[in-house]
Amino acid sequence: MNNFEYKNPVKILFGKGQIAHIGKELPADTKILVLYGGGSIFKNGVYDQTAKALEGFDWMEFGGIEANPTYETCMEAVKVVKREKIGFLLAVGGGSVLDAVKFIAAAALYENGDPWDFLSQRNKINVERALPLGSVLTLPATGSEMNGNSVISRTSTQEKMAFSSIHVMPQFSVLDPETVFSLPDRQVANGIVDAFVHVIEQYLTYPVNAPLQDRQAEGVLLTLIEEGPKVLANRQDYDAAANFMWSATIALNGLLGVGVPQDWATHGIGHELTAYHGIDHARTLAIVLPGMMDIRRKQKEAKILQYGERIWNITEGSVGERIDKAIQKTVEFFESVGIPTRLPDYDVPAETIDRIEARFTNRGTLMGEHRDIDAAETRRILERQL
Ligand code: NZQ
Ligand code: ZN
Repeated sequence: MNNFEYKNPVKILFGKGQIAHIGKELPADTKILVLYGGGSIFKNGVYDQTAKALEGFDWMEFGGIEANPTYETCMEAVKVVKREKIGFLLAVGGGSVLDAVKFIAAAALYENGDPWDFLSQRNKINVERALPLGSVLTLPATGSEMNGNSVISRTSTQEKMAFSSIHVMPQFSVLDPETVFSLPDRQVANGIVDAFVHVIEQYLTYPVNAPLQDRQAEGVLLTLIEEGPKVLANRQDYDAAANFMWSATIALNGLLGVGVPQDWATHGIGHELTAYHGIDHARTLAIVLPGMMDIRRKQKEAKILQYGERIWNITEGSVGERIDKAIQKTVEFFESVGIPTRLPDYDVPAETIDRIEARFTNRGTLMGEHRDIDAAETRRILERQL
């Protein structure tokens, strides 16, 4: 096992009715800004529950954060934070609202230039401080509720970039499985696939004799495979929603990745497909992962065989046949929840591969557990999905 440091200070309030208890986590002596997305929280009662829990606090709101949150919208919120002397941010929504709030929290205290510096690759600046924040999660998918990651898009340059800092980890996050009841099929399917691929990015690399992390990862994958379809079939199934929600959080709260190599190239390539075509994040992962597994079959051989055996019971055939079968089972699972896996399914033309290759060449991008997935390898992975 590799050396590691691990710290996760996020307090979780899990279960139905927990939104009512956020008052005890909030500061009484400062102004709170509640941030949300396009309005789903008004339809499913989450806004009303939050407003009730905030009675007696000094608070105001900022809505309209879009899916794949933009730098441009975040900077509007930063103006409000500064003008109103906000001291605490409360994100109410999915991963997009959470990620936006993390960026806003850091940007509001940044005085050395453009906060895009946190994301830009050329002159990347580490976040050194941020306003405190909390969250009420309404969509199990990203793990943003219990990590320090934020992914922001810049409309003017068609870029989608990530940063990570312990300073933007929420002080608390509410996970109420009843929020799942109002999710459309598309977002449930996205959540299942996003969480699944988060585990894969920390698991499908090469063995370092870390059997506990392996079995924890496999436990999350198997739970998503069992519980995800139950959520899709019956949105009112509280237990399935609870198991799905906790799986998605565990998939990316950092624990599965301690002491083991991590990949994240599927995400790196997927972000480009969202940047250029606006494809939902999880769907980009479903496109890229089968190509990644195929093109990187040699480097990932031992773990793909283990994954095939322990997740899909693939025990027979040559090494090549077992790897093919593991890829096929993965594709079938994504398609069974309604997510296609080929570029033409999303009307992505071959020229997009040229653009991504050129961009990665320009940036000198190197990804993957061996830091050897470059622009040319990215082309091969994407061409496999045409
Ligand atoms: O905006 P509203 O009206 O709230 O509607 C949202 C949005 O349209 C809706 N929704 C959310 N909760 C709902 C609901 N509709 C009905 N009932 C509810 N309970 O769902 C739509 C999608 O929401 P969004 O927040 O965009 O989805 P998700 O949670 O999948 O977040 C995706 C974003 O997270 C980033 C992605 O790149 C993408 O920008 N990621 C963040 C990560 C992190 N911070 O660690 C890791 C991930 O890999 C990912 O990159
Ligand atoms: Zn993801």
